[in-house]
Amino acid sequence: MKKTIFMLLVALTMVNSLIFANGQSESSSTKQKVVGVCMPTQSSERWINDGANMKKQLEALGYKVEMQYAEDDVQAQVSQVENLIVKKVDCLVVAAVDSSALVNALAIAKVNKIPVIAYDRLLMDTDAVSYYATFDNKGVGTAIGDYIVKSKKLATAKADGKTYNIEFFMGSPDDNNALFLYNGVMEVLQPYLDNGVLVCRSGRTSFQETCILRWSQETAQQNCENYLSGFYSNDHLDIACSAFDGFAYGIKSALMGAGYTLGENWPLITGQDAELMAVKNIISGYQTMSIYKDTRLLAQKCVSMVQAVLTGSKPEINDTTQYNNHVLVVPSYLCTPIAVDKSNYQKIIVDGGYYTPDQLK
Ligand code: BGC
Repeated sequence: MKKTIFMLLVALTMVNSLIFANGQSESSSTKQKVVGVCMPTQSSERWINDGANMKKQLEALGYKVEMQYAEDDVQAQVSQVENLIVKKVDCLVVAAVDSSALVNALAIAKVNKIPVIAYDRLLMDTDAVSYYATFDNKGVGTAIGDYIVKSKKLATAKADGKTYNIEFFMGSPDDNNALFLYNGVMEVLQPYLDNGVLVCRSGRTSFQETCILRWSQETAQQNCENYLSGFYSNDHLDIACSAFDGFAYGIKSALMGAGYTLGENWPLITGQDAELMAVKNIISGYQTMSIYKDTRLLAQKCVSMVQAVLTGSKPEINDTTQYNNHVLVVPSYLCTPIAVDKSNYQKIIVDGGYYTPDQLK
């Protein structure tokens, strides 16, 4: 019933746009263009920043912005996209909750000639997407892996007779980025699992065994608690290889609950996004590193794609091979992720104007 009403609305929308096209009403050149921006959730700081940056940059160019947050509810995001189509936005920018759940809604956008740009997360199984702005997602994984190798001196550990216990906390199985990141991590760390320098006591090393649905902090904490009680009661966890700052917060709570102490036996904990809380934890030592993703730069690249589809020009693209969404290889711009820790956060994050010293107090 809901679907039928929606299809009716879409048909009405199309009739309306035909009337406009016949010149009876507004002139398309003078009408302020509207960009619908669909973000996944406000539960993590990064997406709040992404939304704010997109709004600011689009408005500075004279666009009106319709911003939607789906709070990680797949159906809510489907409805939000459908509503924006009914409202006849001129362009849709989508960071999906579930990368494959928007196929039907995006098909309607295509029928209505509304261009779609994938933001940060690839839109899967659809031919309705024009461009993709993101970070080098495999590069995020290799940067995390490289950081672990370097700080634990894994290259010489075998000769030094050293081994380290590691557990993995990987991203959401419905987010294409998560597998890219996992592949990057394993490209670097698998040789050390194979030669016995890294030991995963839980035995959970595959993506299927370590992925965490919807990037849930609570599940990461629960998993960590289970690993600590099940496999580490007589042993020590040395490395928590976490794909997200949110997981690192959950891991921190689990470790504290199990009696781990900062400055004594606290493990190396990785993360992603360089959220404000994560950088504070890096300063205090509760988190070892994160991956800084400058959301201002991502917004800038995405906004240039919006401009391109609305003016018929070509945006800057730097990858035309990696991001196959099962229907097409989506032309992409990949921004470069940067590993940050205590040694360089000041230079990269503070001097770069991402956070002020006051925010980090
Ligand atoms: C993003 C990450 C983020 C994660 C959880 C991924 O799609 O690329 O930057 O940490 O979602 O929000």
